[in-house]
Amino acid sequence: MIRADLADIPTYVPGKRLNNAVKLSSNEVATPPLTAAVQAMVAAAAGANRYPDMGAMALREALAGHLELDIAQLTVGCGSSALCQQLVQIAAGPGDEIIFPWRSFEAYPIFAQVVGATPVAVPLTEEGRHDLAAMAAAITERTRVIFLCNPNNPSGALISSAEFEDFMSKVPANVLVGLDEAYIEYVRSEDTPLAPEAIGRHPNLIGLRTFSKAYGLAGVRVGYAFGAPEIITALNKVAIPFAVNLVAQAGAVASLAAADELLERTDVIVEERERVATAVGARPSEANFIWLPTANAASIAAALIGENVLVRAFPEGLRVTVSTPAENDVFLAAWEKLNLSPQL
Ligand SMILES: Cc1ncc(COP(=O)(O)O)c(C=O)c1O
Repeated sequence: MIRADLADIPTYVPGKRLNNAVKLSSNEVATPPLTAAVQAMVAAAAGANRYPDMGAMALREALAGHLELDIAQLTVGCGSSALCQQLVQIAAGPGDEIIFPWRSFEAYPIFAQVVGATPVAVPLTEEGRHDLAAMAAAITERTRVIFLCNPNNPSGALISSAEFEDFMSKVPANVLVGLDEAYIEYVRSEDTPLAPEAIGRHPNLIGLRTFSKAYGLAGVRVGYAFGAPEIITALNKVAIPFAVNLVAQAGAVASLAAADELLERTDVIVEERERVATAVGARPSEANFIWLPTANAASIAAALIGENVLVRAFPEGLRVTVSTPAENDVFLAAWEKLNLSPQL
């Protein structure tokens, strides 16, 4: 009954949950949404007998203002995950190839396989950066979509502006490039591409952002994509109707209205990530997590669970979300108590 190739799709592994534990495994923010956003969502919930606005006009207008784009250049989705999947769906089918850095966002290979395309994972460099030369060399006539993750989840590394432009000059005009900026609000380096500007120079580029991270709305699922109107129209064709519910739309509009306040909160995370990274000997990160390359991530994560701290173990290393000072202190105390180091 079921497509045989689906058996090979790895299951998406969400960050662990454990009541009362400090959850540093999903790169969420620990602080609840702003009161204004909660109030807007409560008010919207009272009208839940009606379908939401399918065009999400209020939200797209607010985003257009925020990003200085035209509303026709923007669409919204059920998290930016859904939009990543739609991007693959509009361009690729069986036998086509999807290139992405690896280790990176674990949904990229899944989305490739969902449409029967071949995932082409290009290993990061030793420093956890995109190997853009290798990614360009991996392009074939079957390549349909390339994902860039900036900053990269889980390594926290950035692509420089020059590296990006050089890479884009090597990508054929008929290959879509998804620039995934899920963590862009935490970036402080200025030497990096920003999708809202870069789409003006590259008609095959699509920016992908989310309300799940800096905007603190992971639980209601809203993301957005922006680029050429023809690509946006195609993304909408493969979307599930009414994918962004009315509570999510209201929460996102209210959060965007308070963008300054929410973005100020990212300064605390930026300060904290230096503190946590220094304490455990991690590389500098430009996102709301730190990365410790180690082959022993699973045993370290298991030991930390014993201290009620949840982090994320990958075969290549350990990713720890940077949270409030108090939660980070719990992690650092556990790290010290267990006498941990990535070498253990
Ligand atoms: C790199 C990256 N892209 C996209 C997403 C998807 O976020 P969401 O679907 O919550 O918008 C995530 C979530 O962890 C991510 O790490």
